[in-house]
Amino acid sequence: MSLPDEATRRELLVLELEGPREELEICLAQLGELVTGALEQADNDGNPRLQVYLAARDRPVAEERLVTGRLSATWRPVPKEDWEVVWRKDFEPVTVTAGITIVPDWDTTTSARTLIRIRPGLAFGTGHHASTRLAIRALERLGCRGARVLDLGSGSGVLAIAASLLGAAQVVAVEHDLDCQGNFKDNLKLNSLPVVPRLVIGDVLEWTDFDCDLVLANINPKVVFPLLEHYCRTKSRASLIVSGLLTDDQTRLKAHCRSLGLTTRALEREAEWLCAVVQRRDKRTSGPAIAAGEID
Ligand SMILES: C[S@@+](CC[C@H](N)C(=O)[O-])C[C@H]1O[C@@H](n2cnc3c(N)ncnc32)[C@H](O)[C@@H]1O
Repeated sequence: MSLPDEATRRELLVLELEGPREELEICLAQLGELVTGALEQADNDGNPRLQVYLAARDRPVAEERLVTGRLSATWRPVPKEDWEVVWRKDFEPVTVTAGITIVPDWDTTTSARTLIRIRPGLAFGTGHHASTRLAIRALERLGCRGARVLDLGSGSGVLAIAASLLGAAQVVAVEHDLDCQGNFKDNLKLNSLPVVPRLVIGDVLEWTDFDCDLVLANINPKVVFPLLEHYCRTKSRASLIVSGLLTDDQTRLKAHCRSLGLTTRALEREAEWLCAVVQRRDKRTSGPAIAAGEID
């Protein structure tokens, strides 16, 4: 059984939220990529109670973002002895599509056509968040065989690994959080990858090399919207899969893309989360062609 190292474990907090389900979902969305795991339980009356796991260093940002409304919110450290239980409970295998399943590294029994092994750590990307699942579904639907893939905001490396397993010819991953590096490298080793993704530590908003066929960006609206502008300043014809957006962002996303000469296709949703495939409007994309699902 592999757990994050001692120092990392001591740094985790659990935020317990209780109250109306719709408000719990809004809070989860506000926390976005800060969430490293979430566990839903019900109290004796069947009301949902959410335990959200976050890095202690993210607490100030989380508190700034959270509007708890009618919810009760309690922070507490996660006792060391709870860890084994937490990881095992929280990191069940995730069936993403009929052919793709994500399993924690200690799982030796689950099988799937494409199995992605992830060691749960502080990096985002275990498949337990809808934004990751949506991005992988879009990636599988679009296809990336032989494509040069750029994974922006790579976290655990889950999308980079998925791209490699689905036949990408080259995968470059960019992440600004140095703490993700160890987990990213561990996860590469856990998977027998036909092509080994290369990790670059840096800010995706300073990234200018879009000479690839497919861009994956599961981040958040604050990064995704300017990122689309940066992409448009280049001559790249790559298709983009953008995730980490909320369904409330849909109208803004379509307007933003239209103003940039981009088209939003194949919008997919899970709960309140939204993912879109975005391409140059003139359709001369270098990436895989979208067979169906043009919506703009
Ligand atoms: C929602 S997580 C996605 C992780 C993984 N790709 C997945 O799909 O599960 C977003 C990741 O983007 C990273 N990130 C956010 N803003 C960034 C920026 N400006 N430059 C580079 N990485 C960024 C975060 O640290 C986080 O690891």
